[in-house]
Amino acid sequence: MLTSNGGKPRQNAKDDLKSRGLFITFEGIDGSGKTAQCKRLVQYLRRLGYKVRATREPGGTAVGEKVRAILLASQDHLSPLTELVLFYAARAQHIEDVIRPALDRGEIVVTDRFNDCSFVYQGYARGLGNRVVRLLDRAICGPVQPDLTLVLDLDARVALDRALRRESRRGSMQSRFEAEGLKFQERVRRGYRARARRDPERVRLIPADRPPKEVEAEIQRVVGEGLGVRSQKSGAGSKKSEV
Ligand code: TYD
Repeated sequence: MLTSNGGKPRQNAKDDLKSRGLFITFEGIDGSGKTAQCKRLVQYLRRLGYKVRATREPGGTAVGEKVRAILLASQDHLSPLTELVLFYAARAQHIEDVIRPALDRGEIVVTDRFNDCSFVYQGYARGLGNRVVRLLDRAICGPVQPDLTLVLDLDARVALDRALRRESRRGSMQSRFEAEGLKFQERVRRGYRARARRDPERVRLIPADRPPKEVEAEIQRVVGEGLGVRSQKSGAGSKKSEV
């Protein structure tokens, strides 16, 4: 169990986690270049000697990958609430099997999407509202919350064109989410920007309409700050074997 006392996060559990691992999430609209940047950051941190667990949502576990298939490729109508619950079902397993154990071992966890995605896509863009997402989030994620969230921020039109080009290159089926079109992507972008305004220390907007090398450099700088703050807090330095 991640939570007690009626779903409220246990503060001490959160503090425990923070003193062990570091939890970094990548977010952004479809086609923002997030997945490629996520991989580059993982490689960079490993080159520096950190132990890094790279993962993604939806997915990240065998059950999660099955849920992913339902969510992304399903031809059936899924209501926004069904969607939300499925994302959190996959997330529960992801936390239990992958995220929490890695943080407990003191590793850096880098995930391509996590709970901000549900707040933005289901809560905001699909109109379910924050309340129901928060409720599920407390029950399922509890204290397992990102320390740092990198939102790749890009004009929705540019991002959508990129995503569609990528899909046709791969010959893969366009996902239900990309099929939502421009208006939806614009709402998603607004949702992420609003979250960054509300929690600017954790949620960092990374302008993504520029060469990938520049985006990568800014991400490294922001993550470097995060590692520095953490090592000051723990007073031990971000020891390579421990983080
Ligand atoms: P994916 O193919 O992984 O796209 P990307 O490479 O852009 O991450 O598809 C993930 C889709 O699932 C994406 O459109 C966002 C959506 N999603 C939600 O709507 N809510 C969530 O909680 C998560 C994790 C993803």
